[in-house]
Amino acid sequence: MKLTIDTAKCRCKEIKLCTCVCPYGFIWELDEKKFPRVNQDLAYYCIACGHCESICPSSAIKVENITEPPTGYDKKNKIPAEDIKLFLKTRRSVRTFKDTPIPRKELEDLLNIARWIPTASNKQQVKWMVINSKEKIKQISSLVIDFIKNSKMAKELVERFDQGDDIVLRNAPHLIIALGEKNYFWGNAEAGIALTYLELYAHAKRLGTCWAGYFTRAATSYQPLTDYLDLPENYAVCGGIMIGYPVFRLHSIPFRNHLDVVWR
Ligand SMILES: Cc1cc2nc3c(=O)[nH]c(=O)nc-3n(C[C@H](O)[C@H](O)[C@H](O)COP(=O)(O)O)c2cc1C
Repeated sequence: MKLTIDTAKCRCKEIKLCTCVCPYGFIWELDEKKFPRVNQDLAYYCIACGHCESICPSSAIKVENITEPPTGYDKKNKIPAEDIKLFLKTRRSVRTFKDTPIPRKELEDLLNIARWIPTASNKQQVKWMVINSKEKIKQISSLVIDFIKNSKMAKELVERFDQGDDIVLRNAPHLIIALGEKNYFWGNAEAGIALTYLELYAHAKRLGTCWAGYFTRAATSYQPLTDYLDLPENYAVCGGIMIGYPVFRLHSIPFRNHLDVVWR
């Protein structure tokens, strides 16, 4: 990691903002003029989170291996919390999709937003696989049905599938799969966060999504399905979401279980 501080630009007085926000606290050695410096013994721990660069009011810090420079934004341009609350409450699962495929550019836009999720040590290891063909989606659903044939719910699900009702992937035009490095402790958590970002952004764009639970369970243990997916080496399926243009719109917000908290 190459991190540079241009002390000529440094404007902080008593409190050095970069030293406050560094997660590992290695920007702290102050020189005789009281400018912050990087403690090179600890620089190894830098996770390239970019907080020091983002907080510096005088752009004195550069983190070199961040792929794109930070972008400014209008801090006054805030969405009212009540609007966000309503937005979050109106996200619902969609299970009936139009046949129309979503253009690749639009899918890329959705996937790109998930690059801004929090990840442990800023590892950013989530990889994506997007299934785009109806035939492949059908084949995957059929493999999932093979997998669940022996479970309790199998009878009804298999019957419905055999009657042409794809209860696994709902005839969605796309299946977005979040992959994580095998044996990586935070893989499932980070995939869950990434898919949630993506799902919420899809909601903002009036696209329909539904978590592909049957698929995810099968894809984590059923070899014929993992073989079919031909996963990149050393990656496993951590979650999936069906996505497409919704046929229906809902008009009300459902009741949910009451808040369940243990306050200590
Ligand atoms: C991890 C997970 C797995 C899910 N799997 C499926 C699934 O396989 N099929 C399906 O139709 N819905 C699935 N769902 C959607 C839930 O049924 C749905 O979120 C829940 O009933 C609440 O409804 P809402 O999303 O419309 O608010 C899943 C949701 C989650 C979070």
